Amino acid sequence: MKKIVFGNDHSAVQLKKELIPYIEEKGYEVINVGTDEEKAVDYPVIGEMVANMVASGNADLGIAVCGTGLGISLACNKVNGIRACVCSDAYTARYSRLHNNCNILCFGARVVGPETAKLLIEEFLNAQFEGGRHAHRVDLIMEIERRNRGAQ
Ligand code: RB5
Repeated sequence: MKKIVFGNDHSAVQLKKELIPYIEEKGYEVINVGTDEEKAVDYPVIGEMVANMVASGNADLGIAVCGTGLGISLACNKVNGIRACVCSDAYTARYSRLHNNCNILCFGARVVGPETAKLLIEEFLNAQFEGGRHAHRVDLIMEIERRNRGAQ
């Protein structure tokens, strides 16, 4: 069974309650590393937890949600091996996997409603990286990461 790590800050607590059962119904195991309380938390902490789970192979893919999706995606992308994309439409969510081999889907709980969020998740989880010419381009992205590791 594929493992999905789900992380969220306080802005997405209500949304998460609807999304985790939805993902589980699709046959995935969900590891919840997000907050379950409305009390404010710092999204970089959650983003790093999601990213570490994916980068270490303890989860196959990640979903990270904050108010806009932006802050948490920035945090996720600081972890080596992570390609986190903010999506708010189904086409982008699908192609984030097909062409970019994204391993963490991010979106904003204050941007998309529950039905759009479910659509984003469905497209992201159903799509497979196409490889081929896209593999070369994703490799070029990862080379940038390798060249800049440790840079201030
Ligand atoms: C929290 O208020 C908000 O700043 C956060 O959820 C996120 O949108 C940051 O990018």
